[in-house]
Amino acid sequence: MPNTPCGMKSIYDCKLIEQHEVSPGVWLSKLTGPEIARGAVAGQFVNVQVAKTTDPLLRRPFSLHAVDREKGTFSLLYVLVGRGTALLHRYVSGDIISVVGPLGNGFDLGDSPDAEHIVVAGGCGAAPLHFLCDSLCEKWGCEKVTVLVGGKSKDALLCEDEFREHGVLTEAATDDASYGYGGFVTQLLQAHLDKRSDASNLRIYSCGPHGMMREVARICSEHEVQSCQVSLENKMACGIGVCTGCIQKIKKQSQGCDPAWEYKRVCADGPVFEAENIIWE
Ligand SMILES: Cc1cc2nc3c(=O)[nH]c(=O)nc-3n(C[C@H](O)[C@H](O)[C@H](O)COP(=O)(O)OP(=O)(O)OC[C@H]3O[C@@H](n4cnc5c(N)ncnc54)[C@H](O)[C@@H]3O)c2cc1C
Ligand code: FES
Repeated sequence: MPNTPCGMKSIYDCKLIEQHEVSPGVWLSKLTGPEIARGAVAGQFVNVQVAKTTDPLLRRPFSLHAVDREKGTFSLLYVLVGRGTALLHRYVSGDIISVVGPLGNGFDLGDSPDAEHIVVAGGCGAAPLHFLCDSLCEKWGCEKVTVLVGGKSKDALLCEDEFREHGVLTEAATDDASYGYGGFVTQLLQAHLDKRSDASNLRIYSCGPHGMMREVARICSEHEVQSCQVSLENKMACGIGVCTGCIQKIKKQSQGCDPAWEYKRVCADGPVFEAENIIWE
């Protein structure tokens, strides 16, 4: 597999092994990419050239959903939302796809064996959290991990079976009450945390719609959890920290007349941030 240096990043020609629809409008792709699979940590993403031509010019970012380090493969889970994803889903097995990555920082899994971990997934936010779940189980044991997975309806729940197959306690929430807890996954999180007198050994990880993560951040702050990390999916252009197209306001220690915030690049400084540092707008 040829590989071309691109500054500090690398572009890889990855062979599509298989690609299929896992639920209406949601696709799973499996690709070869030993360097990506072996170098990646949960929460990182790749930037994919969705067509063989230069139109569209910009690559599209997708989280790593799983990696198999031994086989040198990785997978992506994506929703068809526009032209880029429509082009991506037309690739067939054996096609070569240009991929840049792994990019971004990834989740911090902590260093305390006493900590418990709650993963809160909304819609396609389940993609990076699936990889995270693997990593948490490997590092701390699945019995330390709980997954709360939410969607608009039963059909819109992603990775629920896979989370259960990991052996982690998994609870589902649907907005329309068609399955599991009837309500938002954030309400399910609230109920979990309300049951505890002390949440200081809890580490929370979340990815999903912006409003959902903002609510996760609020609940975690109210309960003073040990750590609450969210993976942002701001729109991106270059994906490698050059264009500042993906910036996010992040709190910082104010000095003199300096504002108490600064812009961080989601692609290079994130996509994972401590939720308490984000200025939610
Ligand atoms: C770090 C990162 C990781 C991501 N991981 C995944 C993933 O694992 N699976 C997945 O399905 N998607 C993921 N996304 C979102 C994905 O990149 C976009 O859905 C995709 O680029 C849309 O391309 P498109 O050409 O099909 O749609 P476009 O034609 O570009 O847009 C179609 C619609 O989608 C909206 N949209 C585009 N980009 C985003 C975005 N970043 N966030 C919210 N809405 C957007 C547009 O506003 C528009 O309404 C991720 C984004 C980032 C930044
Ligand atoms: S997308 Fe260009 S700096 Fe982040």
